[in-house]
Amino acid sequence: MKILVTGGAGFIGSAVIRHIIKNTQDSVVNVDKLTYAGNLESLVTVENNDRYAFEQVDICDRAELDRVFAEHQPDAVMHLAAESHV
Ligand SMILES: NC(=O)c1ccc[n+]([C@@H]2O[C@H](COP(=O)([O-])OP(=O)(O)OC[C@H]3O[C@@H](n4cnc5c(N)ncnc54)[C@H](O)[C@@H]3O)[C@@H](O)[C@H]2O)c1
Repeated sequence: MKILVTGGAGFIGSAVIRHIIKNTQDSVVNVDKLTYAGNLESLVTVENNDRYAFEQVDICDRAELDRVFAEHQPDAVMHLAAESHV
């Protein structure tokens, strides 16, 4: 299964991605805009894994999201992108 995770560079998203890559055979597409809260250093242990892909995309950008969905064709979405300071 291929899982698209939004906000995957954040606190919760990065933990979810590390868990999926380490404990399952599923693939992950991380869609994150990299705001002040995004930190790719949380993903160094998975960044070179064949089952991991990163797209620096704003989820408010419909055209870019359409491209990501067409390119990666995920089976499921975990929506964890947020402006969590509010
Ligand atoms: N941190 C917790 O303890 C906790 C507990 C329960 C629920 N949650 C919920 O989980 C979700 C994520 O929380 P978190 O603590 O990981 O937040 P976070 O701020 O650490 O991460 C949010 C991520 O979303 C990304 N992002 C923000 N706007 C975006 C956009 N427009 N497009 C793409 N990416 C975007 C940021 O770059 C960042 O990587 C929130 O809905 C939060 O309420 C968090």
